[in-house]
Amino acid sequence: MPKPAVFDFDNKAKQDARMETARQNHVNLVSCLSSSSEASSQGKRGADERAQESKDILVSSEDGITKIIFNRPAKKNAISFQMCHDIMRALKNASTDNSVITVFTGTGDYYSSGNDLRNLINDAGKIQNAAMSTTLLREFVNCFIDFPKPLVAVVNGPAIGIAVTLLGLFDAVYASDRATFHTPFTHLGQTVEACSSYTFPKIMGSAKAAEMLLFGKKLTAREACAQGLVTEVFPESTFETEVWTRLKTYAKLPTNAMRVSRELIRKHEKEKLHTVNAEECSVAQERGMSEECTNALMNFMSRKAKL
Ligand code: COA
Repeated sequence: MPKPAVFDFDNKAKQDARMETARQNHVNLVSCLSSSSEASSQGKRGADERAQESKDILVSSEDGITKIIFNRPAKKNAISFQMCHDIMRALKNASTDNSVITVFTGTGDYYSSGNDLRNLINDAGKIQNAAMSTTLLREFVNCFIDFPKPLVAVVNGPAIGIAVTLLGLFDAVYASDRATFHTPFTHLGQTVEACSSYTFPKIMGSAKAAEMLLFGKKLTAREACAQGLVTEVFPESTFETEVWTRLKTYAKLPTNAMRVSRELIRKHEKEKLHTVNAEECSVAQERGMSEECTNALMNFMSRKAKL
């Protein structure tokens, strides 16, 4: 019997070591750049120097904006375990770089189809990685709760699952009128995550949140905007130009004032969000092993179910 990944301490240790090396390299790079004059460091830290590239997540920093891009269009930008690790590293780096705003967006026709369901079930139809996935989920969501700078989502197309629930932790959400917002947890025998059990009722009221989170109602961008989840909707034809022009203007605002105000807005919620995240993850682990969830994932694997 192969060892379940959660008990594979050797690989975990190697992976941790690789992450630590990457983190240290980044710290070295930042210290090296900070030692040069402010003016030259501003100039030099352009897209080329700050860009880091991994396969499915692209990260770049330019014009005061760090962009984190879901880049797996062939899989509708479904978020794999590796992508979670890449995003956590990108957020950690962005929290100390000299960018003002951090923006998430997607490549291709989707923003993101949510968690990669193939993380959770193997080809033989057996649930796998349930414990690992909830430990990772908790750590992943914590990175968003603790992120110290304004977080903006540029939702270029449909968003599903965790790509939607995380939006409750963002400061602004700009959507193309082609975007949709869908949280089909019940259909998948799964439960809510990314603090949406707390943020969604707060944002849109409990009745509207229930329609989305319990009954899986898919919202258009305009509906999501009317319910307060989306800040503003733009026509697809002008979406990119209008949003990026606006964000570049926002990134020129006084950084410290923005950061301090954000801290004031958020600090009373932080502890609550961590408690909610922990609770959601502990329930998710139990639900992830359930028959309802196994059957729903099997249906997806056998292509019977499309949401
Ligand atoms: N996890 C794993 N694979 C996914 C995925 C996801 N969340 N979303 C899309 N994919 C994969 C598909 O399996 C397919 O892979 P293949 O080419 O190897 O067969 C590929 O991405 C393209 O998707 P496809 O289903 O062919 O495109 P579509 O336009 O017909 O449908 C979706 C797109 C997103 C509606 C459909 O793929 C879907 O329902 N995905 C599941 C979404 C989901 O349940 N997310 C989790 C919510 S909690």
